[in-house]
Amino acid sequence: MKIAHIVGARPQFIKYFPVHRAFDEFSKNSDIKVKEILIHTGQHYDYAMSEVFFKEFGIKSPDYHLGVGSGYHGQQTGQIIAKTEEVLLKERPDVVVVYGDTNSTLGGALTAIKLHIPVVHVEAGLRSFNKRMPEEINRVLTDHVSTVLLCPSEIAVKNLRKEGFTEIACEGKLIPPDIQLSTYRVDLSSPLVFNVGDVMYDVLLHALSVAESKSRILETLQLTPKSYALMTIHRAENTDNPVKLDELFKYVNNVASLSEIIFPVHPRTKKTLDELKVASYGKIRMIEPVGYFDMIWLLKNSAIVFTDSGGLQKEAYWLEIPCVTLREETEWVETVESGCNVLYKEYDATFHKLLFRRNFYGDGKAAQRIVNVITQLFRRIDEV
Ligand code: UD1
Ligand code: UDP
Repeated sequence: MKIAHIVGARPQFIKYFPVHRAFDEFSKNSDIKVKEILIHTGQHYDYAMSEVFFKEFGIKSPDYHLGVGSGYHGQQTGQIIAKTEEVLLKERPDVVVVYGDTNSTLGGALTAIKLHIPVVHVEAGLRSFNKRMPEEINRVLTDHVSTVLLCPSEIAVKNLRKEGFTEIACEGKLIPPDIQLSTYRVDLSSPLVFNVGDVMYDVLLHALSVAESKSRILETLQLTPKSYALMTIHRAENTDNPVKLDELFKYVNNVASLSEIIFPVHPRTKKTLDELKVASYGKIRMIEPVGYFDMIWLLKNSAIVFTDSGGLQKEAYWLEIPCVTLREETEWVETVESGCNVLYKEYDATFHKLLFRRNFYGDGKAAQRIVNVITQLFRRIDEV
C-alpha cells in the first residue's frame, strides 16, 4: 500500500506527525507493507515555519520538496498542482492524504482526484460560512473532491450532511478506534464520512511532557507563569489591511490587563508591520515564531490568549486557557459554546471564568482511527 501525504504549511507538519507515528506503529504490528511518501509543497519555507517542526518531531526529510514558495492564490495553487502532478504520475500512490485548509490542501486534493487517486481529507467538514476567507474555499472544494472525509467533531459531520454527504459511519459519532469496515467500499463518486476526532489533540497530549522537560522559553524570555498574555495574528482578513492590524494591536493592548503580551510574529504579519512602521505597541513584545514545544509551553503558562489561529483556539481549549478569538466568526464553535473561547467583539472582563465543558474533539486517538480506516479501505482495493 503506497500512501502519499501532502503538506506545506506550519499546521500541516504538526497534523502529519501523529498520523505518521501511527502508521509506523501499524507497520510494526502488521504484515501489510505500508510505504509512505511525504510531499512538501514548499508553501512555508522559513526555518521557523517549516524545518524546525521536522527537527522537533524527528520526521525524516520530505521525499519530494516542490519549492513552490509564496505567491498570489492562483499562482501558488497552480504551481502546487503542476508540481504535485509530476510526483503523483511518477509514484502512482494508492491514496493521497491532505490536511486542513490551505492552498497546499486544495492543490494536492485536486491533483490527486483528477488522476483518479482517492483523496483522504484530514480535518474535513469545518465551516466558517464566510467565503471571503481563502481557507473556507479550500475546505469546501477539498471536501467535495475527497473520497474519505475524516472529521474532527460531530458538528463537522453535521456540516457535511447539510451539503449532501450521506455515507456517514456511526451516525457521525466518534467511531470506535478498531472499527471494522468490511461493509464499506471505496468509490470516488460516493464519499465516506468518519468522525475520528482531532489529530491536534493527539499531538498536544504527546507534546505536553516533552515541553515541560525540554522547553526553556520562559527562562529565555524571562517570563513568570500566568503573568503574561499570548497573542498570534496571521489571517489574511486581519493582516492584509494595515489599518485593521493596527486597530487589533491597539485593542489587545487595551483589554489585556497583564503587563506583557508575547507575540510570535508570523511572516505574513511581519510584512504588514514593516509597512506600518510603528516603533512599539505598548505591552506587545514581538518575538520570532517559535517551535511547537515552546509554543505549547508558552500557551500553558499564559493567563489568556488572543489569536486568530485555528489550531491555537483548540489548544487553548484543551489546556483550559481562556481564549479571545480575533475574528468575526470561528469554525471551532464548540470552544465558544463551552465558554472557553469568545469572539473579540463579544469579549468583556467577566469572560475569565471557564465553564464546565467536555472534549468535543475526540479522545487523543484520532491518528490511530485514521490509520485503521485507511489501511482497511485501501487494502481491499489491493485485493480486488
Ligand atoms: C497559510 C494558510 C492559512 C494557515 C497558515 C498557517 C492559505 C491560503 N493560507 O497562510 O490557512 O492558517 O498558512 O500558518 O493557504 N512567508 C514567509 N515565509 C514563509 C511563509 C510565508 O515569509 O515561510 C510570507 C510570504 O510573504 C507570504 C506570506 O507570508 O506571501 C503568506 O504566506 P502564505 O503561505 O501564502 O499564507 P499564510 O498567511 O502563511
Ligand atoms: N505555532 C507554533 N509556533 C508559533 C505559532 C504557532 O508552533 O510561533 C503552532 C500552534 O501552537 C498550532 C499551530 O502552530 O499548533 C497553528 O498554526 P497557525 O496558527 O500558523 O495555523 P492555523 O492553525 O491557523 O491554520
